[in-house]
Amino acid sequence: MNIKEIVSKEIKAQGATSEDIQKLLLVPPQKEMGDLSLPCFTLSKIFHKSPNDIALNLQESLKNSNIVKKTDVLNGYLNLFLDEKYFSKIIIEDMQKNLERYGAQNIGNNKLCLIEFSSINVAKNPHVGHLCGTAYGESFCRLHEYFGYNVKRLNYLGDYGTQFGKVITAYLKYGSREKVLERGVDELQDLYIKINAECENDENLLKECRECFLKLEKGDKEIQKLYDWFKEISIEEAKRIYNELDITFDDWRGESFYAQYNKETLALLNEKGLTKRDNGALLVDLSEKNLGKLIVEQTSGASIYATRDLSSLLNRYKEYHYDKLLYVTGVEQEQYFNQIFEVGKMLGLPYMDKVFHFSTGRISLPTGKISSRKGAVALIRDLFKASIQKAHSVLIEKGTNASDMEALEKQIGIGALVFTILKSTSTKDSVFDLDRAISFDGETGPYLQYTYARTCSILSKAKESKVEGKVDLNVLPASVFPLIKLFPNFGEALNNAFYEYDPSYIARYAMNLCSEFNRVYSETKILSEDKKLSETMVEITRLTNNLLKKCLYFLVMKAPERM
Ligand code: ARG
Repeated sequence: MNIKEIVSKEIKAQGATSEDIQKLLLVPPQKEMGDLSLPCFTLSKIFHKSPNDIALNLQESLKNSNIVKKTDVLNGYLNLFLDEKYFSKIIIEDMQKNLERYGAQNIGNNKLCLIEFSSINVAKNPHVGHLCGTAYGESFCRLHEYFGYNVKRLNYLGDYGTQFGKVITAYLKYGSREKVLERGVDELQDLYIKINAECENDENLLKECRECFLKLEKGDKEIQKLYDWFKEISIEEAKRIYNELDITFDDWRGESFYAQYNKETLALLNEKGLTKRDNGALLVDLSEKNLGKLIVEQTSGASIYATRDLSSLLNRYKEYHYDKLLYVTGVEQEQYFNQIFEVGKMLGLPYMDKVFHFSTGRISLPTGKISSRKGAVALIRDLFKASIQKAHSVLIEKGTNASDMEALEKQIGIGALVFTILKSTSTKDSVFDLDRAISFDGETGPYLQYTYARTCSILSKAKESKVEGKVDLNVLPASVFPLIKLFPNFGEALNNAFYEYDPSYIARYAMNLCSEFNRVYSETKILSEDKKLSETMVEITRLTNNLLKKCLYFLVMKAPERM
């Protein structure tokens, strides 16, 4: 049962149905403004009265309600204070019935949603930008699943281009199997850097690398074998990162797979008259749309990143017939995706209204910290290492002594990173502060995990002493009601996160829930001599525990039961 639904039936406004009222009701930003608030501005158009007068009229009609205890009229808003016991009962019963899917909506109706995210590059270490995409992408996947979509996770591998001719040539010239086995992607990257520098002064070497790539494209067995091996190594290393976040992809086909369709793609573009030659290169001119020019074939005749994306756009729909396709990338590719989508529209693809792009903001690190060699961006691996180390020292300082310290350090360290990414609204650029991220105070991942672990330990103690959660609201101290009132806002947070592509709603909700729970915890003994009170408090704890666990899940964090 829905609180807004119940309240809207109480508000009798002639000329507006209770459904209309329900749609207007909102949760005010501050507690002092009441539990619900009705903005009367749109009603003003129906009733031809000022919003404030309407609010005053409605206030009058609620005078004898025993559900709405108190009302306030302020600037065209009717603020409602609800009877706490009455509503706590409804909230709790509703949650108990519905705990598994609390706050969920069936919007997707089991329709197919593809989410392409993280998309790492072969023979290169994934960096902090990839981590942002990974965190957002997975959060979106989980939200879409909860909202009824059948989700497929796509990792569009960057596995195509002359650079692979370079890596392979370098390996054949000065690499060794042992070293690659030992150092993995690091070795591949070093080989690339080395040969790339040499190519700058050596035309013949560059030619050799290009030929090597051509051979690969033509299916040269030996070269293909090396290439597959390098790819396998890269995917394996990436999977180590994904494992820590409980992410598994359904589809790893990337640039090289879709490159096979490039001929058809270019033929289609030409056929529709969208291309023109400019200094030898083939391009689509989008300047009328203020989107510049999109090159689709280099002067050399070689294909390009954009051609492969167009090929995948065309062929994914043929294969999947999806209802929605969401690309998650860094903001630096936003303009590029606008171009790709515009070309899709010019081609008249009938599914362009199903295709979306989401940009993650940029996270930078304070200079000098955790940057990889050559001043490049920080690598995920180094970030993980630093944050796990930091989590280790914080735990030691706190005197934590868990049997599985290492696992715990990972969960906290990595969780803190992901939380930091998802808690800030995505479009902003932010500077990452490791000390702050791992702190247990303030709006941090560890604070969330710590509160969750606290609820777990209360519940396990309750179990030991066989305290069951039977609720008797008559024994509940009034100070617990604000916590209960927060429960149904979970659905609102999910809803906003889903529609606005912004998991920070969930992060903020989780922080509120944590601080309310911790306040209650410090004010009221949960397990006490008073049996009835203990039972009720345990049930409230169980419900909080459940919500915190869900918040952690949607924020792509692990839920340690002890800390
Ligand atoms: N591999 C690319 C990178 O690391 C991201 C791919 C984005 N997706 C796409 N369809 N182009 O920058």
